[in-house]
Amino acid sequence: MGYYMPSKNIDITEKSVKIPQHIAIIMDGNGRWAQKRGLPRSAGHKAGADAVERVVRACVELEIPVLTVFAFSTENWKRPATEVSLLMQLLLEYLQRKVKIMAEQNIKIRFLGERENLPEKIKTAIGRTEDYTKENTGLVFNIALNYGGQQEILHGVKEMAQAVVAGECSVEEITKERFAACLYTEGVPEVDLMIRTSGEQRISNFLLWQMAYAELYFTETYWPDFDKDALLRAIDAYGNRERRLGGLQ
Ligand code: FPP
Repeated sequence: MGYYMPSKNIDITEKSVKIPQHIAIIMDGNGRWAQKRGLPRSAGHKAGADAVERVVRACVELEIPVLTVFAFSTENWKRPATEVSLLMQLLLEYLQRKVKIMAEQNIKIRFLGERENLPEKIKTAIGRTEDYTKENTGLVFNIALNYGGQQEILHGVKEMAQAVVAGECSVEEITKERFAACLYTEGVPEVDLMIRTSGEQRISNFLLWQMAYAELYFTETYWPDFDKDALLRAIDAYGNRERRLGGLQ
């Protein structure tokens, strides 16, 4: 497990801090960030995409093994069609502009979620992105898109049931590990630290299985204002928590 020395210019403790293996982020508050400035919501989402870029860079610098961001939930389809298409467009532009740079930084990009009913353009772009970065061995950057935690568990249950019906596995052979391999996050460690911005204190159907023992960190900061220092503060808080994982100290 890696350690980093917290920088002196932010108010965190002197000792070296444990680095979480998997950080998951609910990027909330783009709309309120824009509203506060008298700007349209679209400006908040654009600034949110810039924050994604900053945080990915910071995770590479800090040698975080896995970062997962919640870009679009299964419930987000309820937003006005113009906002849905803006979010899709922003993601597309982000991939067009950044995939090459991220690939050079040895980042492996994966998408978590149901692909079936995504626009064709998006399906093509995510397929290409995954393919282009699949051999990379640095940061695993998961983008949850059309993602819901309950839906993911159901998807895993169906896959498991099919394996049983096909005689590939008996009911007794269903273990935590075997089931986890049926989820979108196959092969990555469970979440150590979950960050939600903008003051809301909910999990909102995000990585329900993978967050079983995650430390939860909530900050008032709106997502477009989130930066490396804010990330360091969250990691510091995580490092100062006592994780007993159900046992005794
Ligand atoms: C929540 O803010 C944010 C979202 C629903 C979308 C997150 C998307 C991005 C940051 C941009 C594109 C993503 C990538 C990966 C490049 P909100 O609109 O719910 O804010 P509010 O609660 O203040 O209205």
